[in-house]
Amino acid sequence: MAQNLLDDDGVSNPSRNAALTDVVERAIAARPNRRRLMLGGLGAAMLPFFGGLAACGGSDDKEPVAVTPPPERMLGITSVGVSSGDEIVVPAGYVATAFAPWGTPINDFAPAFRGDGTGSAADQEQQVGDNHDGMAFFGFNAAGNGFGDRSDEGLLVMNHEYINPEYFYAPDTDPDDWMSPFTFEKARKAQAGHGISVLHVRRAADGSWQHVSGSPYNRRIHGNTPITIQGPAAGHAMMQTAEDPSGTLVKGTLNNCGNGRTPWGTYLTCEENFNGYFGWTGEHVQSAHEARYGINAGGFGYRWHTVDPRFDVSATPNEPNRHGWIVEVDPFAPASSAVKRTALGRFKHENAELVVAPNGKVVVYMGCDERNEYIYKFVSAGTFDAANPTSAANRNLLAEGTLYVARFDAGATAGDNMGNGVWLPLVFGQNGLTPENGFASAAEVMIKARQACDRVGATMMDRPEWVAANPTKAGEVYVTLTNNSRRGGTTSNNPDGSTPGGSARPPVDEANPRANNVWGHILRWNEAGGDATALTFDWDIFVLAGQPSVTDGRAPSANVTLDNLFNSPDGLAFDSFGRLWIQTDGNFSNSGDFEGMGNNQMLVADPQTKEIRRFLVGPSGSEVTGITWTPDRKTMFINIQHPGEVGSHPNKPAAYTGDNWIARNAAAFSRWPEGATAQRPRSATVVIRRADGGVVGT
Ligand code: FEO
Ligand code: CA
Ligand code: CA
Repeated sequence: MAQNLLDDDGVSNPSRNAALTDVVERAIAARPNRRRLMLGGLGAAMLPFFGGLAACGGSDDKEPVAVTPPPERMLGITSVGVSSGDEIVVPAGYVATAFAPWGTPINDFAPAFRGDGTGSAADQEQQVGDNHDGMAFFGFNAAGNGFGDRSDEGLLVMNHEYINPEYFYAPDTDPDDWMSPFTFEKARKAQAGHGISVLHVRRAADGSWQHVSGSPYNRRIHGNTPITIQGPAAGHAMMQTAEDPSGTLVKGTLNNCGNGRTPWGTYLTCEENFNGYFGWTGEHVQSAHEARYGINAGGFGYRWHTVDPRFDVSATPNEPNRHGWIVEVDPFAPASSAVKRTALGRFKHENAELVVAPNGKVVVYMGCDERNEYIYKFVSAGTFDAANPTSAANRNLLAEGTLYVARFDAGATAGDNMGNGVWLPLVFGQNGLTPENGFASAAEVMIKARQACDRVGATMMDRPEWVAANPTKAGEVYVTLTNNSRRGGTTSNNPDGSTPGGSARPPVDEANPRANNVWGHILRWNEAGGDATALTFDWDIFVLAGQPSVTDGRAPSANVTLDNLFNSPDGLAFDSFGRLWIQTDGNFSNSGDFEGMGNNQMLVADPQTKEIRRFLVGPSGSEVTGITWTPDRKTMFINIQHPGEVGSHPNKPAAYTGDNWIARNAAAFSRWPEGATAQRPRSATVVIRRADGGVVGT
């Protein structure tokens, strides 16, 4: 099918439908209610809409007139208002369309989604997973058979972080517990809902996007897909299980949160809260190592350990060590094995931001998302061959290197929200990472990366989420610190690694300046000399979120205004022009500390002026996460995760009394994205375009 794709680009346009599209999209821009029609519908719902306008519009036979586009603007939108509605809000002139929701058949052979929640584990293995998160668009090359820079056709690769049991399963027979009896089949279905989807996607002449369902590139990697373990921890005794005595082949990737992408055309999926799937049923005494990573008897309540011995720590004690890694996937090689890259350390990975340093070394920035955890960077041993981007040597650059962790110091002036810092190497034999301190090898330093950071004296941060490097300023890097309910005490992570994860309550410091940080902040640093491999940096705070009416020690920074209120910055990425996009996953109660903030949202910022504007608001109970663009930046893809999370939402049903209730009334709160006919809300991608076909954001 690839041979036809250039015809669908709109460059060659035998049907002249592009002119029709322009008419339609101008109509959408002028009539927001029409735009909402598109927002509510999945891809197919657009067809009758376009067809209807074709009947009354007609095509335009005039030759196109060349128009010089205006210069690109950093912030070309007016902030949209907040919303607590069950819909997407975007600025006038933009089109937002739901795409590839949870359960979409991955290819022509996959079973259809069952809206009542009765789909099987085998079905789910062949359908798009749940809770869409990090995501990357990889354009095809001109030949349509590999990695390139086309904007009309490519592979959209996305993470599926977790499942919401109350929407994921149909209620069972127990009147008091909709998940009971919990079965191995249910655990397998949940495992199949995790991992990644690779979707071959193509832009049509009208600017909309379709899933090329017959393509051999379509692929699922899920919680039971065999994955190779590579790097310093591969084969170590702590990585071995009865099923895999080699310690080099693990089943599955789980809790796939943020992502990364490499210049050699691979995708990085980042394993975050893997600990929540484990528990134990037999005799087991929690080790300090398990406590440091939050492995406990009951897990997060997913119940897998009650039916699947792989997740029962009393049966398979080393299985947790095989999770919490960065996983590299080649989306253009559907038969290839994904690889867990253990040189990048084991922790609760948010995303992986990769840059090539001036000396050719590849640097990967990463955050560990838990209260009072750390910010890391990996520097490759080898160097990137820019002349041969997909060379075999380039493709192995994440196999070997040095892992560092950041220490943020106050600098020359106290209290000015800026300072300097150093990168501390996590190298076996250095800085106390020795056998007498519990690190017997380089492998153990990677498997126990959190304890290694405790030992070297890294700075405990307010929940590091996504890291984003500025493409227009070498060495400048931003991180979201989403919030921290455990800041402002007197206890720190013990240097001997004995503090259970998330249990310390450290004092405020300059980089984390607010006690009980309910709104979060964004910090940035500039590597010395603009060199990503430098071992020192300067830092400052880009924005302290919050309420402008608060003037005490909790006050926000001056770039927070009544027009851009938000809390809990999480997703973060630069587009190639240098705009900084900020996505939130926080409190959507729209009351108290969070009044005027509405549903979770996406904002766009100018990194130089620090101005921030609100671009999008998500539907009820969702978070906005994952972001990627076509190379021409005329299509932006984002993800809406967990629509319908009831929580403290102001529009939650009056009769709501908990998950048992909502599981039996799955359409009672959110019906996004299908709208009135929905049986339950579904996580989905959203395709965002300008109605005039221009660059998003300008
Ligand atoms: Fe998966 Fe920290 O968000
Ligand atoms: Ca300072
Ligand atoms: Ca996140």
